[in-house]
Amino acid sequence: MQNKQVLINSLPEGKLEESNYKLVESDMPQVKTDEVLVKTLSFAITAGTRAGLQGSASYAGAPKTGIVMNCTGIGEIIESNDSNFPVGRNVLTQTGWQEYSIQKPESLTLLREAIDPSLYLGPLGINGLTAYFGLLDVGQPQPGETVMISAAAGSVGHMVGQIAKIQGCNVVGVCGSDEKCKRLIEDLGFDAAVNYKDANFRQNLKEATPKGVDVYFDNTGGMILGSALFRLNSGGRIACCGVVSQYDTSTPEPGPKGIPGLLVNKSIRMQGFLVFDYAERYEEATDNLIGWIESGKLKVLTDELDGLDQAPQGFVDLLAGGNIGTRIVNIK
Ligand SMILES: NC(=O)c1ccc[n+]([C@@H]2O[C@H](COP(=O)([O-])OP(=O)(O)OC[C@H]3O[C@@H](n4cnc5c(N)ncnc54)[C@H](OP(=O)(O)O)[C@@H]3O)[C@@H](O)[C@H]2O)c1
Repeated sequence: MQNKQVLINSLPEGKLEESNYKLVESDMPQVKTDEVLVKTLSFAITAGTRAGLQGSASYAGAPKTGIVMNCTGIGEIIESNDSNFPVGRNVLTQTGWQEYSIQKPESLTLLREAIDPSLYLGPLGINGLTAYFGLLDVGQPQPGETVMISAAAGSVGHMVGQIAKIQGCNVVGVCGSDEKCKRLIEDLGFDAAVNYKDANFRQNLKEATPKGVDVYFDNTGGMILGSALFRLNSGGRIACCGVVSQYDTSTPEPGPKGIPGLLVNKSIRMQGFLVFDYAERYEEATDNLIGWIESGKLKVLTDELDGLDQAPQGFVDLLAGGNIGTRIVNIK
């Protein structure tokens, strides 16, 4: 038996291309003492891993070629040398874009058996936890306040908007097409949504936020952050989650004008965060997220591809806005 893997073939110059990856077959990995062999079932393609290919801008450090593309996935344990992780159980781990991986027990999270495993790639995985802590802990929204979110139809964004609605906020999404705006309002209950590619974006954002913005959940940086700064109310909060507008390039732009002047004049708090900072509170978040899903308050949007070979093009397309919700690749 052979293992299929997608390797980083070359680092992107400019925009990511499918040719930056290559599909290879390699020998099956051998399990050593205190290791576990995991068969990948599905994995999520997420925007943040593009920052990892840029190098110094990412917490992931310098990018390398010739290694398996990294990602979070769910898999089944098929061989185990650790009795806490028995054969047959499903786990969440850094599977990478490959069919089989060797894992150390400390890198595995056992999935709760009564829960649909695919939820661990969206709301109960890294992106759901990011939405939860970034909004509630960093943004600290209060009932009646206006929450604005960029990349609002993406994996993190569509969950942030719904959690803000659960908190009793007025929710305004920003995304890249009229079709996505319609889905946010009609399917997920956003109060308004604005297409940032529209020539009248700034005016449309102003009209969608007549009372200003109290919390801006920033997934994009760039021009949308620049526009949000001018809509923020005194005492507003900006939760800096990511900078997706500057990932798919070798020449990221500097931050927008107005910083720090506007922050000073309006007593605005701008705070970056990493979801891993909240690892000790993941169980609390998971319990709340499951409760909201089961009560129908949190709808889960997924966008699925079939086959490992679909991952490179699926990633290129995600960066161009092709996804709605969490993009998942299922391994046949
Ligand atoms: N801080 C943390 O710990 C943490 C953890 C996880 C993720 N993140 C961050 O969360 C953000 C969202 O990640 P995700 O995995 O949920 O991805 P995603 O939102 O599902 O997908 C990326 C989306 O970004 C939008 N986009 C692409 N280029 C853009 C541009 N130039 N300007 C504005 N929007 C653009 C596209 O939608 P449109 O059609 O709207 O353009 C695309 O669908 C990323 O910034 C990521 O780094 C942070």
